[in-house]
Amino acid sequence: MLSAGLALLLSGGRSSSEVMPKDDSLNALAKKRGRFFGTAVRTDKIWNDPAYRTAVIGECGSITPEVALKWDFVEPQEGELTFDPMNSIMGFAEANDLDVHGHTLLWYNSMPPWAARKILETRDWTIINNHFANVLRTYKGKIKYWDVINEPIEAGKRWDGLRDGVMLQAFGPDYIDHALRSARIYAPDAKLMINDFGFEYDTYDENDRRWLLLRLVEKLKKAGAPLDGIGLQAHLDLAKGSLASKKIADFLVELRNFGVKIIISELDVKEYDYALPAEQRDQRVADHAKQYLEVVLAEPAVIGLTCWGLTDRYSWLDATDGDYKRLRGPREQTGLNRGLPYDANYGRKPLYYTIRNALNA
Ligand code: G3I
Repeated sequence: MLSAGLALLLSGGRSSSEVMPKDDSLNALAKKRGRFFGTAVRTDKIWNDPAYRTAVIGECGSITPEVALKWDFVEPQEGELTFDPMNSIMGFAEANDLDVHGHTLLWYNSMPPWAARKILETRDWTIINNHFANVLRTYKGKIKYWDVINEPIEAGKRWDGLRDGVMLQAFGPDYIDHALRSARIYAPDAKLMINDFGFEYDTYDENDRRWLLLRLVEKLKKAGAPLDGIGLQAHLDLAKGSLASKKIADFLVELRNFGVKIIISELDVKEYDYALPAEQRDQRVADHAKQYLEVVLAEPAVIGLTCWGLTDRYSWLDATDGDYKRLRGPREQTGLNRGLPYDANYGRKPLYYTIRNALNA
């Protein structure tokens, strides 16, 4: 499979018949407003699914590897570096004039067990520096935006809202500041970001999370840490009720006032009722996203919109998958989530047109 994939990617990952006119793409519309449109991508799907490649090439100006840059993927065992899949994504991006978003250097959920063990045992920052050097030097000058820290906020535990994990336990609350400074050494020209979720609803938890993120950004900026941007994942969820539009708008202004750029980095919509007719489900998803996009795309600090996948065929929210089923409550139904712009057969859904109109507004 790898060699077939590499052969395909050597040819740029496309044939001319696959490519749709770029001037009609979602990215072209975004570009008119100085923004980009992108998607998360799965390496094996780029290799194996021509319709997927067509959609990615045809709509996007930016791609984010869904898995291929994560620490447990690039270095599953200490010193065993696995860059082939990521290099193939880079080749695909270069051949098709796509930017690549660097996701992610440090995520509690993708730290390889050997690193977690060693960090807790030694509290040696060299382990972090080595990881950053490995990844950032490999893609120096090729990746402009890096999610240096992914998901550092956790409400309801500590007063400063930092997630309790290996990094915090080993290095204390300044680990984020240190990580940004270390990343800056190896990626002097890149834009360094913090990426997190849960800032959209009027719930106790999300009200808290917005406040905690603002306090973190404030602290980092005061300390002179090289923080250029914030990624707001925007995993919308129909079960969470109405969006907190006014609070989101105010939150974005406060972020902008700290001098950071904002990327909507992982947009999708989780459903909770899979029993309704598809048209009704699609309309609910689109209406919800419309409300969100109207708010965030009115904010000038928002420089780009990335969906966490383009097609329902490949979504982390696929609730037919065994693992994901386990994550859902017993009363919830299972099924194929319809929370991305294309359906599983690459038909454009109302969400697609909602995104189109919102980018064009
Ligand atoms: O591709 C293999 C497949 O060959 C194998 O049969 C299967 C068996 O489990 O695994 C497949 O890989 C899975 C991969 O997703 C497929 O894309 C991995 O096990 C699974 O761990 C991986 O999960 C990813 C997850 O992050 C953990 O890295 C999801 O795709 C990805 O969508 C998710 O992304 C996160 C962001 O990084 C951060 N924000 C939340 C977002 C959603 O959880």
